[in-house]
Amino acid sequence: MIPRKTPLEITKMRESGRLIARLFEHIRPMVQPGITTAQLDSEAEMFIDMNNAKPAFKGYRGYPATLCTSINDCIIHGIPGQIKLKAGDIIGLDVGVLMDGFYADAAVTLPVGEVPAHARALMRVSEAAMNEGIGQAIPGNRLYDISSAIQKTAEGAGYSVVRDFVGHGIGEKLHEEPQIPNYGKKGTGPLLETGMTLAIETMINQGTWKVRILKDKWTALTADGRLSAHFEHTIAITPDGPHILTAL
Ligand code: MF3
Ligand code: CO
Repeated sequence: MIPRKTPLEITKMRESGRLIARLFEHIRPMVQPGITTAQLDSEAEMFIDMNNAKPAFKGYRGYPATLCTSINDCIIHGIPGQIKLKAGDIIGLDVGVLMDGFYADAAVTLPVGEVPAHARALMRVSEAAMNEGIGQAIPGNRLYDISSAIQKTAEGAGYSVVRDFVGHGIGEKLHEEPQIPNYGKKGTGPLLETGMTLAIETMINQGTWKVRILKDKWTALTADGRLSAHFEHTIAITPDGPHILTAL
């Protein structure tokens, strides 16, 4: 069963979501050549702490940090450390927070300095695919309307859709039902209803969709070493369509 939230519960999720949007505004200017991913992580942790919230990922199944920092061929779950960003990199920043009993979860992929046009194009399409998916999150649609819109946008631009990771329901838990694959058949899947809250996340690759997991059991890389771009918003399905909760 897919849990549905009351308007009051959605208001709480919006507070968590707004904190993430503010966090990204705060971190974005720090994403420059020379900074380490550990520095970004400690800044994010401090920001969340100062706002009386809790980082959602730290300690989750043993994950050691507040942010996931996924550089270039890293799809998701890059662990912050002493690696320095360099001009031309792209970096995915993924963060979840818990405030007043409710979670929000979002991700963006950002350029570091000047990046090649092919990398910018990948980021643009991954974000557009997420937005196309969000656009399908209306009462009366089916879950895989979201999936199919994402798949069409990504594959239509010549990219591939990662199979091994999916979006998810979110609310009182970081991961709730349903799983939301980024590929699927339009018009199928569970009915979407008012009050459902979903984390819609696109993981879109330049080359193969196949992944390789490092020995740390987290870091997910593209199997062919080409670039990947990740975007994620937490949204609520309302009578007048999707509301993005992780925006200002
Ligand atoms: N946005 C990802 C997710 O919802 C990040 C999870 S990282 C983890 O699954 F450490 F919390 F697993
Ligand atoms: Co997520």
